[in-house]
Amino acid sequence: MIKKDINTTTTNLYTMRKNIVAGNWKMNTDLAETQDLISGLKKIAKTSNAEVIIAPPFVNLYSAFESVKGLDITVAAQNMHQSDSGAFTGEISASMLKSIGINTVILGHSERRAFFNEKEDLLAEKVNTALENDMTVIYCFGEELKDRKFSEHFEVVHKQISNALFHLDASAWENIVLAYEPVWAIGTGETASPDQAQEMHAYIRKTIADEYSEDVAEKVTILYGGSVKPNNAEEIFSKPDVDGGLIGGASLKAEDFMAIVNAF
Ligand code: PGA
Repeated sequence: MIKKDINTTTTNLYTMRKNIVAGNWKMNTDLAETQDLISGLKKIAKTSNAEVIIAPPFVNLYSAFESVKGLDITVAAQNMHQSDSGAFTGEISASMLKSIGINTVILGHSERRAFFNEKEDLLAEKVNTALENDMTVIYCFGEELKDRKFSEHFEVVHKQISNALFHLDASAWENIVLAYEPVWAIGTGETASPDQAQEMHAYIRKTIADEYSEDVAEKVTILYGGSVKPNNAEEIFSKPDVDGGLIGGASLKAEDFMAIVNAF
């Protein structure tokens, strides 16, 4: 069941949460470049126990999925439509993704919000569709610079999470990964300081504990995204509530991406 039942209480025992490093390739990499980048990833040993996810563009998902077979890498989509099928020219459904082996989807990235006008009511629908299709959702959110300047960043993040996710049943959170990505740090070379990231991640975890339970909050993986590079990953990942990263620019170079994976 996906929708929240207010009588539900969680009784699961605490288990360690997963560390994840996910590469969001955005609108980069044609077919040959996809293959080259995956070949590069194959050549570099993974020395950490972080789960590795790559998200190439739609057209190359199937080829990427075939190429990573036998490797410890999950292939994810960068977006999907909320409907199962129909007259939505140019769109891709959950069942299409599932049919080529894709079980993970990034939703709510700030570029989707800014350039494609995706709002939380739509994102809530997309989340529901993904979960109904047994997919894992990497749900992205984060404040803009003006929000931080006016000290509204906690409030903004609270709304972004609650509006899109707080209708869910506690059990649905097993398939939710959060990605806090302050918009001012994406692709800018500006990173939130490790302390700023930790402060927000701790706030997010507390927000989930208050709405659901300590158990749900302790188990949810919260990624940080925004100019994570090989030279800053280790310090950011060392923070107790930072469980990994969503990596844009640096995921397009195999050496840099694997250095970040191995920063754990
Ligand atoms: P960046 O992008 O690492 O290039 O800042 C992160 C993201 O948009 O997911």
